[in-house]
Amino acid sequence: MSGRLDGKGALITGAARGIGRAFAEAYLAEGARVCIADIDAGAVAATAAEIGATPIAMDVTDQASIEAGVAEADDALGGVDILINNAALFTADPIVDITRADYDRVFAVNVAGTLFTMQAVARGMIARGRGGRIINMASQAGRRGEPFVAVYCATKAAVISLTQSAGLNLISHGINVNAIAPGVVDGAHWDGVDAQFARLEGLAPGEKKKQVAAGVPYGRMGRAEDLTGMAVFLASAEAEYIVAQCYNVDGGQWMS
Ligand SMILES: NC(=O)c1ccc[n+]([C@@H]2O[C@H](COP(=O)([O-])OP(=O)(O)OC[C@H]3O[C@@H](n4cnc5c(N)ncnc54)[C@H](O)[C@@H]3O)[C@@H](O)[C@H]2O)c1
Repeated sequence: MSGRLDGKGALITGAARGIGRAFAEAYLAEGARVCIADIDAGAVAATAAEIGATPIAMDVTDQASIEAGVAEADDALGGVDILINNAALFTADPIVDITRADYDRVFAVNVAGTLFTMQAVARGMIARGRGGRIINMASQAGRRGEPFVAVYCATKAAVISLTQSAGLNLISHGINVNAIAPGVVDGAHWDGVDAQFARLEGLAPGEKKKQVAAGVPYGRMGRAEDLTGMAVFLASAEAEYIVAQCYNVDGGQWMS
């Protein structure tokens, strides 16, 4: 059976678990060869062995690690054709409690990590001259603010903006840059979000998840698998004319 990504090589950051792992599995099922990169070297090795990907230990906040990881992926894949910038951290605090250290930590992964991984991969794509696809993971959090989530929301707004600028800059090299904005996707990430809201709002564990699920027009929180169709589509030949866009995949939560 032919796949929609046959012959393509993909690098997915932050893919030891969660949404990135689901993307890797979907890409493999569509015929791509896949490198999964994560700061958690043990977890990414275990995930790679389970799903049939190539693991790369990579910290997207460290320039040398980005360059080494992208070179490793280029070697393993014969050149990266598709990059998903998926690695991210979440943080929550009222404005008066935000620390510079936490701001720097989260911006370093979500914004600088996205920009400089995109840059390293784009340099190789340009040198090889066969174009490519870059997908950045934004969020509905980047579409509007939230009372306790100023830093994370700002990072995701920055990801949407970077996607627009990089999309306009890189399309002249045949590189399409787009973004996906999920809503609320259950998994380890949201276990952490739920715990932070339990602290900030005095909620019982699990209560915040129930509240957000009730607010989704579709009727439940998302699952990682709900996002894979968009990730495959944006990497496929069908998305050739799509440039610098950010698509909501959120069960109807945000309209733009
Ligand atoms: N889960 C949601 O509800 C949701 C909603 C909107 C957007 N998103 C976005 O989707 C993406 C994936 O989310 P998820 O829920 O799977 O998150 P997750 O926390 O489950 O996975 C993130 C992965 O990134 C890795 N990582 C963290 N710092 C890193 C670094 N410095 N270098 C390399 N890897 C690093 C972690 O080890 C982890 O494996 C993120 O960009 C997130 O912001 C998630």
